[in-house]
Amino acid sequence: MRTPFLFLLSSLLLTLLSIYPSQGSDDHKCDFPDHDSTLPVMHIYSPCSPFRPPKALSWEQTVLDMAARDEARLQYLSSLVAGRSVVPIASGRQLLQTPTYIVRTKIGTPAQTLLMAMDTSSDVAWIPCTGCVGCSPNVFSTGKSTTYKAVGCQAPQCKQVPNPSCIGTLRKACSFNLTYGSSTIAGTVAQDTFKLATDLVPNYSFGCLSSVTGSSAPPQGLLGLGRGPMSLLSQTHNLYQSTFSYCLPSFKSLNFSGSLRLGPVAQPIRIKTTPLLRNPRRSSLYYVNLIGISVGRRLVHIPPSVFAFNATSGAGTIIDSGTVFTRLVTPAYTAVRDAFRRRIKGATVSSLGGFDTCYTVPVRAPTITFHFTGLNMSLPADNVLIHSTAGSITCLAMAAAPDNVNSVLNVIANMQQQNHRVLIDVPNSRLGIARELCTK
Ligand SMILES: *[C@@H]1O[C@H](CO)[C@@H](O)[C@H](O)[C@H]1NC(C)=O
Ligand SMILES: *[C@@H]1O[C@H](CO)[C@@H](O)[C@H](O)[C@H]1NC(C)=O
Ligand SMILES: *[C@@H]1O[C@H](CO)[C@@H](O)[C@H](O)[C@H]1NC(C)=O
Ligand SMILES: *[C@@H]1O[C@H](CO)[C@@H](O)[C@H](O)[C@H]1NC(C)=O
Ligand SMILES: *[C@@H]1O[C@H](CO)[C@@H](O)[C@H](O)[C@H]1NC(C)=O
Repeated sequence: MRTPFLFLLSSLLLTLLSIYPSQGSDDHKCDFPDHDSTLPVMHIYSPCSPFRPPKALSWEQTVLDMAARDEARLQYLSSLVAGRSVVPIASGRQLLQTPTYIVRTKIGTPAQTLLMAMDTSSDVAWIPCTGCVGCSPNVFSTGKSTTYKAVGCQAPQCKQVPNPSCIGTLRKACSFNLTYGSSTIAGTVAQDTFKLATDLVPNYSFGCLSSVTGSSAPPQGLLGLGRGPMSLLSQTHNLYQSTFSYCLPSFKSLNFSGSLRLGPVAQPIRIKTTPLLRNPRRSSLYYVNLIGISVGRRLVHIPPSVFAFNATSGAGTIIDSGTVFTRLVTPAYTAVRDAFRRRIKGATVSSLGGFDTCYTVPVRAPTITFHFTGLNMSLPADNVLIHSTAGSITCLAMAAAPDNVNSVLNVIANMQQQNHRVLIDVPNSRLGIARELCTK
């Protein structure tokens, strides 16, 4: 069932890997100073991104590629179960994702800059290291860092990785590997100083990759913002108290204009919040309670059972930074889509790939509001519609959850979060959302 899709995905990744240019754009506009505990965030396709495709893909191709990658991500999200999501190294499925937003981190002493994928639904920190066979050219040079150290076999972190084994004779290093289909990823568990904006995090544990075969590993490191035991949140608990917020710029944004703000300082105070729910079986995911959806001012008739949180089945709603287009379980999506179509009178509906509500004439989208317990998130047209650059086609940027996957999970995705500040406050079990224009 998954094979054609994986093939498509692998080809896409191969393309990304083969075009990966040397990092560090000459363009000074892409140099952004760090300040306080705030990291600049950019879209993978933005002009400052070294991961963007060299030639502009056609708009349709870009959208279809992003939608195709979403399918893999939804499979990954549904595969998360307790025990697997706490390892610091990606499980096979996680490696199949390509990221959509990246942040700049500095690692080692003296600091080396790396762009890492930001992912709120995983706990992983992994980095391509010196001599990595099959990784992108931009690796972390372990030998140039005076604070780098391998994590020994006896360390507790070594019990968290898949297939751990001990290498070396004197001070045995903890190595690991994992395979997925025809891809194998191997590395060692290591520690070094992370510099996040202006904050130093000494002895941060991560997976230091030494070889990648096959075509399914994305070229950059991954910075998981989930809340498992080895996650960034856990490793920096004293510094950031499991609190962060982010604002994702539109993917049309020309530079690093979004932000990832770590820690409780400088977070919005009067932001409306909704309770953050915890699912022990899917411990890294940020579940919230979606209770209704309005199109225009009208509440769409959707039975509440469609949204109900169930820790056993995984049903409910998550806020995810890595999925591009919001997915709603079929009965909810169908009802929202029908209400939306009724508001666009007289225009013929067409489709594009997985999007079933597209128009070839200009349309005015009604606001779509997600009602969460205690919080309404109202989406203006920019978060509701995707337009082709030529303006010839416009689609409702949401879809039904794929039936072959976990059809019980609603995913509020990054296209809908763009230009909003999303606050994750784990100690107070709350998630805030407020409109904020962070696209320049
Ligand atoms: C971001 O890009 C915009 C448009 O190219 C430019 O006007 C702005 O100065 C850039 N921001 C920074 C901080 O360089
Ligand atoms: C992966 O690790 C296991 C256990 O240490 C080892 O037996 C196996 O040969 C390794 N596989 C690869 C492909 O490196
Ligand atoms: C980091 O590790 C080094 C050596 O293992 C140790 O001396 C140092 O105290 C550690 N630093 C912190 C802040 O834990
Ligand atoms: C939650 O899901 C499980 C497994 O699908 C099901 O057996 C149970 O009845 C559900 N609980 C509720 C309250 O619906
Ligand atoms: C959310 O919107 C609904 C319907 O418009 C309204 O009744 C409710 O008071 C709003 N809730 C908040 C917290 O603003």
